[in-house]
Formats: sequence, C-alpha cells, structure tokens
Amino acid sequence: MTTIAVIGGTGKEGKGLALRWAHAGHGVIIGSRDPARAQTAADELNALLSKNRVRGLGNAEAARECDIAVLSVPYEAHTTTLETIKDAVQGKILIDVTAPLDLDNKRKTRRIEAGSAGQAAQQFLGDGVRVVSAFQNVSYTHLSNLDEQLGCDVLVCGNDKDAKKQVIELARAAGMAAFDAGPIENSVVAEGLTAVLININIAFKIKNAGIHITGVPRS
Ligand SMILES: NC(=O)c1ccc[n+]([C@@H]2O[C@H](COP(=O)([O-])OP(=O)(O)OC[C@H]3O[C@@H](n4cnc5c(N)ncnc54)[C@H](OP(=O)(O)O)[C@@H]3O)[C@@H](O)[C@H]2O)c1
Repeated sequence: MTTIAVIGGTGKEGKGLALRWAHAGHGVIIGSRDPARAQTAADELNALLSKNRVRGLGNAEAARECDIAVLSVPYEAHTTTLETIKDAVQGKILIDVTAPLDLDNKRKTRRIEAGSAGQAAQQFLGDGVRVVSAFQNVSYTHLSNLDEQLGCDVLVCGNDKDAKKQVIELARAAGMAAFDAGPIENSVVAEGLTAVLININIAFKIKNAGIHITGVPRS
C-alpha cells in the first residue's frame, strides 16, 4: 500500500480524497501549514473510518514521509506551498489538483503564465519530480460520502506514463474511472473545466456537476 500525503488536506477537496484513499487501505498523511490542524482533520477521518489510517503533519514533513504527494490548495497558495515541499518531493510523484479560478469571479478560469497550474508545478519542481495533474473536475461533495457510487471521471495529464498509470490506479481505488489525457500541457483543459462545472452547479443549484467520458469501453 502507498503512503499518500495530501498537502492542503485540511480543505474540502483534499480531505475528501484522503478519506477515499484511506478507506481503500492506503496510508494517508494530511498536510497543513499547522500540524495541529492537520491532526484534527486526521482524527475526523479516522473517526469516520473507525480505523487509524490517517495522521496529520506539517506540509513539509508530510511530503518527506510520503511515497506520493497530492497538492490540493487554492491557486493563490500554489507557489508558496510548492516552495515548502520542493526538496521533500524530489524523486516522487506530485499529483496537482489545483484549478486556477479568477480571483474576483470563481465562474471564470484564470490564465496562468506557465500555461496551467500543472505546468507551473512541473517547471518549479524540476525534472526530478513527476508532476501529474488530476481530480480537478471531482466535486468534494462526491468524495466525502463513502456510500456514494461516483459517476464522474478523472482526466490525468503528465509527461511520465508510469506516473500517470499509478495515478489512474489511485483514482480507481477512490472509486473513479480515470483516463490518460496526454502531456502536462493538456492540464489547462482539465483545470479550465472546473470553472465550467461551477457555472453548471450555479445554474442547476447543485454542488456536484462532473464529467463523464462516453464511447470508451468500461469494465
Ligand atoms: N472544492 C472542490 O469541490 C474542488 C473540486 C475540484 C477541484 N478543486 C480544487 O482543489 C483545490 C483545493 O480546493 P479546496 O476547496 O479544498 O480548497 P480550500 O478548502 O479553500 O483550501 C484547501 C487548503 O489549502 C490551504 N490554504 C488555503 N489558503 C491558503 C493560503 N493562502 N496559503 C497556503 N495554504 C492555504 C489550507 O490548508 P491549511 O490552512 O491547513 O494549511 C486549506 O485547508 C483548489 O485548487 C480547487 O480549485 C476543488
């Protein structure tokens, strides 16, 4: 089983992913700027699971102790958080969940100089880290209810095939089908879809619009 650190795992999306992976039997570390806040979130998840599978640490320590790191913070915190974990994630896979949204209007996607948050992470961390972008189109409301069968799909972008394969397996473990959607440059599409889904959520007064790929064989 893999040890997964969810950096920003005290938040809505990260906590939901952490819950799903811990439920699947993986060891999970919640990372936070505040280790006490991380442990509180971990205790909450362990209580839901009735098992002691989740622990909480500061972001850098969580990244040091894991096999795979997941970055789940608002885009405004992307660079500062990456700075904190840059050394600790060398040689590892970093899954970037970040979806950049316009600061003044969350219905609009935000243009990133690097092209996308995923590309920015890959450039910042360097070739020693295999950045894979995924899960931007999965609403936390799906994740936090373990009884819910997830009907939404995950687009997985990155430059390393083996890393993407491992992330696709983690998505399956969390109850979702995931697809290799090409190199990290394509992450801009998945990240942009988040703002599209927010508009659909608002229009239908729901919280859980997602995407589903048609025409592919499913087992
Ligand atoms: N919510 C969703 O349904 C959803 C769906 C798809 C994608 N996403 C994407 O996933 C990412 C996380 O979303 P979220 O809703 O979980 O976000 P969130 O709850 O607002 O924040 C997640 C965590 O990031 C840390 N953080 C927040 N502001 C920060 C700052 N200024 N500097 C450093 N750290 C900060 C906090 O952790 P600590 O204070 O404990 O350090 C917080 O608990 C975002 O990029 C979002 O667009 C979210």
